[in-house]
Amino acid sequence: MDARPIIDLRGDWAAPPTADMRRAMASAEVGDDITGEDPTVNRLEAMAAEVLGKEAGLFVPSGSMGNLVAILALAPWGSEVLAGDQSHIAGAEQGGAAVVGGRSIRTLSNASMGQFDPAAIRAAIREDDIHYPRTGLLCLENTQNQCGGVPLDAATMTEQTATARELGIPVHLDGSRIWNAAAALGVPETDLTAHCTTVQACLSKGLAAPVGSVLVGPAETIAAARRHRKLLGGGMRQAGVLAAAGILALTDMRAGLAADHRRARRIAEAIVTVPGVAVNLETVRTNLVYASLGPDLDGGRIAAAMARDGVRISAWTSGMRFALHYAVDDDGVDRAIAAFEAAVGHGAGVAA
Ligand SMILES: Cc1ncc(COP(=O)(O)O)c(C=O)c1O
Repeated sequence: MDARPIIDLRGDWAAPPTADMRRAMASAEVGDDITGEDPTVNRLEAMAAEVLGKEAGLFVPSGSMGNLVAILALAPWGSEVLAGDQSHIAGAEQGGAAVVGGRSIRTLSNASMGQFDPAAIRAAIREDDIHYPRTGLLCLENTQNQCGGVPLDAATMTEQTATARELGIPVHLDGSRIWNAAAALGVPETDLTAHCTTVQACLSKGLAAPVGSVLVGPAETIAAARRHRKLLGGGMRQAGVLAAAGILALTDMRAGLAADHRRARRIAEAIVTVPGVAVNLETVRTNLVYASLGPDLDGGRIAAAMARDGVRISAWTSGMRFALHYAVDDDGVDRAIAAFEAAVGHGAGVAA
């Protein structure tokens, strides 16, 4: 076993809180957040609302809860929620909108750069007919994780929201990695969120806070989402301990994301040279690198061999994901590439 520190590229959620975050957490001013008395949570919520260009904010324990309370607040019970077939909301949140919320999800196909065909959005919005559910909400995701972490630029966000805006249907943005999108495009987050009613943004991924997301939107919607958060058991007491790290996520961590993106690109360009490994380099613009593997390679075996070299990645039989974050520097990237090449070169990744 390698004695060097583990390089954890399984997810950007593997980014540990920084030393400054730990200090801020230890000395955070706190109060009861359920009654709105935690000054540090209140400060985080106001900051997040400002950075993302909305009226009010809500601190939630996770991105999944932020998405769910947004759906509950915006889409009426019994309505249909439109979301991408590659989206986290449709595929990786246990169907919470339906299971917990009584809202069905109808998927739209995500194109390879993450977006929907605008005509498909229009076609999916239901006519008023007694047989149909009403269309209650359109959900977008930026960056679009499963499409390679691609950022959707401001023109695309304007285009993607146009029909919903025209027809008065609210739009929720799963902006778990909106920070990465803004950094990659070199624009303020507000350019990307302007046409969305609500935005959920993770503090606990590339920004390295240990816990939490923010949901931002109109004050009335956020007040409704706050009630839903309580319903789901997400009301927290002295959560300022966590919010203190979230504040530093916003103030200190966004500037470093461009370096994560550069490192992701280095990994992508290295692994794509290996026979049997395919990476759509066009999509590698932020901190995620998805590779698909030919039939002669097995992702699980590659990952197991790399783990023996102290490098952890996410893998499944026909693919792998590397997720960059501040705790993996240029040396870490060198180690990851070397471990990958050794795993494949030594035949450890060959499919059984
Ligand atoms: C695009 C996207 N949305 C939502 C989430 C959910 O966030 P959480 O793990 O905090 O619930 C994730 C998690 O990886 C994600 O990638």
